Amino acid sequence: MPEKNDHQHLVGQVSRSPKYAQLADTLVSRITADEATKHKSSKEIIRSVRTRLHQLTGAYLAPKIDYTQWLVKFQSLDPNDRQGLESTSLGMMRLHASTYERIEVLPTFFQTSLTSISPVKSVLDLACGLNPLSIPWMLLADDFTYYASDVVSPLVYFLWRYFDLFGIHGNASILDLSFSIPSQPVQLALLMKTLPLMEQIERGLSQKVLESLNAEHILVTYPLRSLGGRKKGMEETYRAQFDQLIAGRDWEIQEFRFPNEVAYLVTK
Ligand SMILES: C[S@@+](CC[C@H](N)C(=O)[O-])C[C@H]1O[C@@H](n2cnc3c(N)ncnc32)[C@H](O)[C@@H]1O
Repeated sequence: MPEKNDHQHLVGQVSRSPKYAQLADTLVSRITADEATKHKSSKEIIRSVRTRLHQLTGAYLAPKIDYTQWLVKFQSLDPNDRQGLESTSLGMMRLHASTYERIEVLPTFFQTSLTSISPVKSVLDLACGLNPLSIPWMLLADDFTYYASDVVSPLVYFLWRYFDLFGIHGNASILDLSFSIPSQPVQLALLMKTLPLMEQIERGLSQKVLESLNAEHILVTYPLRSLGGRKKGMEETYRAQFDQLIAGRDWEIQEFRFPNEVAYLVTK
């Protein structure tokens, strides 16, 4: 029998719940190793690992999403039915808090923040959630390529099939940004509402991600409301964090303010 605090044993215990078994292994392993240094009993370790993993992932998603049923809805759309595509996409985007909060401004969000670099030919959407469903609202070139990734595997498998259905070039993959930072060259990387989570995983990780990406432009956004809907001085906090990230760089920055989100288009 393994020791109570044996790493693999703890990871196995965390993943006994299907909700955590569906997350990227590297993230579960890393958070488990982290929490094992803070608590003595395996029960406490497992509880705090699950809490942290929930805060990073499940807290944003509606419980029990029937991805197959959503795929069927997209499959049954007439290829020329733009209105049907938009309303089905918006319906599904409501299931992830980050896209839900953006729905109201979606018609202008990307138009405003990406005008200066449109039409965009290649996109790397990191920690994407359901944001790839916004593709019809983005200013993309006719032959665009889109690489999307997240740590929640059923969501990624859904996107993979969605890309296949609509003939989107690129892919959807499971990628833990705290484990590996993609290096492929793209015109635009999206880091939407993601950097605060990276800092929760490891201090200084946002800086590393921002520096390492091989993207001509990076759209970095921050939420202006917490999941509970309160404002709590988030704007000042995140502005200070972002200012620190870009301090001493000769990057060009454009800022766009929306009711629930602030966006910075960084040009390296
Ligand atoms: C605040 S949401 C933002 C979603 C999307 N970018 C948007 O703005 O609509 C954060 C997303 O990051 C994902 N995530 C959490 N930890 C991650 C990690 N280490 N690597 C990649 N994605 C991660 C979550 O599953 C979630 O979908």
